[in-house]
Amino acid sequence: MIKKAVIPAAGLGTRVLPATKSTPKEMLPIVDKPAIQYIVEEAAASGITDILIIISRGKTTVEDHFDRSPELEERLLSGGKTKVYDEITAISNLANITYVRQHTPLGLGHAVLCAKSFIGSEPFAVLYGDDVIIGKNPVCKQLMDAYDKYGLASVGIKEVSPEDIVKYSSMQVERIKDNHYKITDMIEKPSPDKIMSLFSILGRCVLPPEIFGILETLPPGAGGEIQLTDAMKKLAVRDGMTGVDFIGKRYDMGSKLGILQAIVEVGLDHNEIGREFRDYLKQIAVGL
Ligand code: UTP
Repeated sequence: MIKKAVIPAAGLGTRVLPATKSTPKEMLPIVDKPAIQYIVEEAAASGITDILIIISRGKTTVEDHFDRSPELEERLLSGGKTKVYDEITAISNLANITYVRQHTPLGLGHAVLCAKSFIGSEPFAVLYGDDVIIGKNPVCKQLMDAYDKYGLASVGIKEVSPEDIVKYSSMQVERIKDNHYKITDMIEKPSPDKIMSLFSILGRCVLPPEIFGILETLPPGAGGEIQLTDAMKKLAVRDGMTGVDFIGKRYDMGSKLGILQAIVEVGLDHNEIGREFRDYLKQIAVGL
């Protein structure tokens, strides 16, 4: 049973400056909840009990968010706001959450390597801290099931546009059945002549602990960063890997458009303000 997850959240978030100058992008709200809470909730709903969040300088608000807040709780209780009190206290009970600092943002692969001693010798899930995925069946669970089924590392994949694939990773895929694919090779940020397919890894993976040995000896890749894709490529070429074309809607909270899409779609579904927001959108859409 996979019980541990890592959430890398130590990146600089340069695509969303100036908002991310002093606020971590993982803490940007989607209506009334910070992005990283959706991700922790997804992990918990998948059966993950222990989470390590990789943070960096200036990201202590992430720690505060998942901690208790006695003063606030007392005020809510004495004001009779029991519903929101329950919501607030539930946040700190989602999972056992611990933190480690990545001192220098050397890349996603390096961030995952910071989790080595926390993980030990078990398979584990990685949920990218700026990728919120909303759906009925948590995507992390979809990947954990694929890991159990095939006994191989599994990654969440989706087809992206030819314009986007050069900014992401590209997979060599062969369909196994339904939304499951065998991955035998991959490349990070391919030049147009190196594109293997339009399938890219987006936001989630379940990895065996052998990934740490690979990451430790990995030279910097695209953009001078230690790339997780380069380490996963070694696993894919050696053993094969499972790609799950996951069911769920992904929002890239590291991009301006992604943030807006998340807010609009979650806002439309929101049980408190959804209807009013829909009316508002209809009203302004007339003038577009
Ligand atoms: P990104 O590449 O999207 O993050 O990494 P970034 O470096 O903050 O992006 P820019 O500056 O806008 O281009 C995906 C996830 O990995 C984490 C990020 O916080 C994000 O959640 N990450 C990335 C780290 O934890 N450490 C790193 O060194 C790089």
